Amino acid sequence: MATKVIPGLEGVAAAETRLSYVDGLAGQLFIGGHPLTELAPNATFEEAAFLLWHDRLPAARELAALKDRLRDGQSLPAATHNILAEAATKQAPVIDALRMACATLSLGDANPDDTRPEAQLSRAEKICAAFPVIVANYVRVRAGKEIVPPRADYGHAANYLYMLTGDEPHADFVRAMDTYLVTAMDHGMNASTFTGRVIVSTESDLYSAITGAIGALKGPAHGGAPGPALNMVFEIGTADQAEQNIRARLERGERLMGFGHRVYKVRDPRADVLSQAAERLYEQAGDRSLYDLARAVEETALRLLEEYKPGRNLQTNLEYYTALVLHGVGLSAELFTPTFAVGRAGGWSAHCLEQLSHNRLIRPSSAYTGPKDRRWVPLADR
Ligand SMILES: CC(C)(COP(=O)(O)OP(=O)(O)OC[C@H]1O[C@@H](n2cnc3c(N)ncnc32)[C@H](O)[C@@H]1OP(=O)(O)O)[C@@H](O)C(=O)NCCC(=O)NCCS
Repeated sequence: MATKVIPGLEGVAAAETRLSYVDGLAGQLFIGGHPLTELAPNATFEEAAFLLWHDRLPAARELAALKDRLRDGQSLPAATHNILAEAATKQAPVIDALRMACATLSLGDANPDDTRPEAQLSRAEKICAAFPVIVANYVRVRAGKEIVPPRADYGHAANYLYMLTGDEPHADFVRAMDTYLVTAMDHGMNASTFTGRVIVSTESDLYSAITGAIGALKGPAHGGAPGPALNMVFEIGTADQAEQNIRARLERGERLMGFGHRVYKVRDPRADVLSQAAERLYEQAGDRSLYDLARAVEETALRLLEEYKPGRNLQTNLEYYTALVLHGVGLSAELFTPTFAVGRAGGWSAHCLEQLSHNRLIRPSSAYTGPKDRRWVPLADR
C-alpha cells in the first residue's frame, strides 16, 4: 500500500503537550493553561518560563530563587566570548552568532552527561539566562563597544535592554519587552520547537536541541519575518501610499511579511496582544504616527490579500506587531529574530524537558519515489 504523505506535516499531531494550546479557528492561544491575552500583559519572562517548566506560577520565594539561578547563568564560558569575538570580525548576523554561541554553552556545564531531570532543568535555566547576554554582548563587541555586564537588581527583560544600550531602561520599555517575550514564548508544535524535540528524542543534549531550534527559527517562514514587515511599513511611508505599494507587491507575486499562518485562519491573538502593547508604547512616547501608519497598512494589506488570495483567510500574524513593539523599545531590525529566540528559549527548553519526560524517538517515514533498477557501473565506464 502506498504511504500517504502529508506535506509539511500539516494537521499531524506529533506529541501531547501541556505547554500551550493553539486554536487556529477561534484565534486563541493558551500558555500553561492561561489565556495569552491575560498572561502576556502581566507576567514577566521569569514567571512564564517557570510556569512552563513547573506547570504553575511561582510563589514569590520561588521566583526570587529562580532569578538568583538565572543570574548565575549570565556568566558565559570563555569559549562563548571567543566565538562571539570571532563572529564579530566577520560581521556575522546576530542570529548566526547566537546559534554559534549557543553550541558553546556546553563548555560551561560541569557535568554535561548528567541527564537527571533536575540537571536538565538547571541546563534549561542556564541556556535561557545566557541568551540575552550573548545577543547584547555580541551586538556591542561587533560595534567595537565595551560589553555592559548585567545588573543584579534587574530582571531578564530589563537586563536585556540595559546590556544592549548601557542605559537604564524605562519601565514602559521593560513591560513591553516582558509582554513580547511572554507572547513569543511558546506556540504549539511550531517548526523550531519540533526541531528541538526531534533532537532530544534521540537522547541528544539540550544544547544541541536548542542550537538546532535557532537554525529552524531563522527562516522568513518562521521567525525571520518582522524585519521585512517593518521595512514594508517604512517604505510605504504614508497611509495614502499603502494601496499602490501593496498592490504592486501582490502583482509581483510577493508574500506580505507579517501576514498568513499555517494554523491561524483568523487573526493571530498574539497580534492583538502586541498591537495593544505597541499602541501603549507609542502613546506613552508621545508620538503614535508609526503605530497609526502600521494600522492603516495592515487594513489595506488585509483587504488586498482577500482580493488577491480570496478564501485563503490570510490574517495578521505575530510578526507584524513584533516589529512595532521591538522598534518601539529601540531595537534595530536585525535584533528582531534573535529577540524572538530570547523569548522562545523558555518554550523550547520546556518542550525538550517534556519530550524527555516520556520520550519516544521521533522518526517518521517517507514515501520513496526513486528507481530500484539501477546497476553498478565502474568509475572508468561512467
Ligand atoms: C506563514 C506562512 C509560511 C504559512 O504558509 P502556509 O500555511 O504554508 O500557506 P501556503 O503557502 O499554503 O499559502 C496559501 C496561499 O496563500 C498565499 N499566501 C500565504 N501567505 C501569504 C502572504 N503573507 N502574502 C501573500 N500571499 C500569501 C500563498 O501564496 C498561497 O497562495 P496560492 O493558494 O495561490 O498558492 C505564509 O503565510 C507566509 O509565508 N507568510 C509570510 C511570512 C510570515 O509572516 N512569516 C511569519 C509566520 S508567524
